[in-house]
Amino acid sequence: MSDAHHPPLRSFGRLKARPIKPRQAALMETRLPDLRISAGPVDARALMPAARETWLEVGFGGGEHMAAQAARSPDVLILGAEPFVNGVASAVRHIDEQGLSNVRLHDGDVRELIARLPDASLARIFILFPDPWPKTRQQKRRLVQPELVADLARTLRPGGRLRFASDVASYVDQALERFIANPAFRWTAERADDWRIPPADHITTRYEEKRLGDCAPVFLDFVRV
Ligand SMILES: C[S@@+](CC[C@H](N)C(=O)[O-])C[C@H]1O[C@@H](n2cnc3c(N)ncnc32)[C@H](O)[C@@H]1O
Repeated sequence: MSDAHHPPLRSFGRLKARPIKPRQAALMETRLPDLRISAGPVDARALMPAARETWLEVGFGGGEHMAAQAARSPDVLILGAEPFVNGVASAVRHIDEQGLSNVRLHDGDVRELIARLPDASLARIFILFPDPWPKTRQQKRRLVQPELVADLARTLRPGGRLRFASDVASYVDQALERFIANPAFRWTAERADDWRIPPADHITTRYEEKRLGDCAPVFLDFVRV
């Protein structure tokens, strides 16, 4: 449940780990204020008037995938959400080093950002290697809950695409069930290779490289009906 009295379950772990390096801390002060998505309804036109479309990355970690996608598609506005401070600092560094002008950040819970997005405003959504919360008693902390799936369906435009990836078998099964249970999503896989082999446009993420899960990475691509 999520309302004013019951905030959403905390799906993330620590907010901060090691100290932020001085150069990154300085960039957080100088660059983050301009990169941060301001409060209130999100207006993509105001953020990037020339953008062809808008994508969302949920839990971008250190921001490597987000920055690489942004570099590959400079005409797309990419919104990223991540509450882990060290991750945000790393993403700001990537954005600065690569001179990216098409990325905006929400340094907090993605559910707060989604609530401020207009209907059908996104063309793509990435949920890549979300925190696995593998133990049965922890699974309620998993980000992919029916409520989030419904909110993502609201914000994704018809024909828009969503990618979920994980290397934790029980999460893959659960996420697949939850997306399929929502009639707004159609799973695009036709054969096993469609989920076993990384899609052609996939960029390996930092967490994916660690191979911490209990299965090979699985990629579930859905289209918004
Ligand atoms: C296992 S890491 C993977 C990071 C990155 N996607 C990658 O593959 O390298 C999952 C990330 O999701 C973030 N996360 C968890 N709950 C979140 C939420 N409610 N909103 C946004 N990000 C969240 C965590 O802070 C963490 O950085």
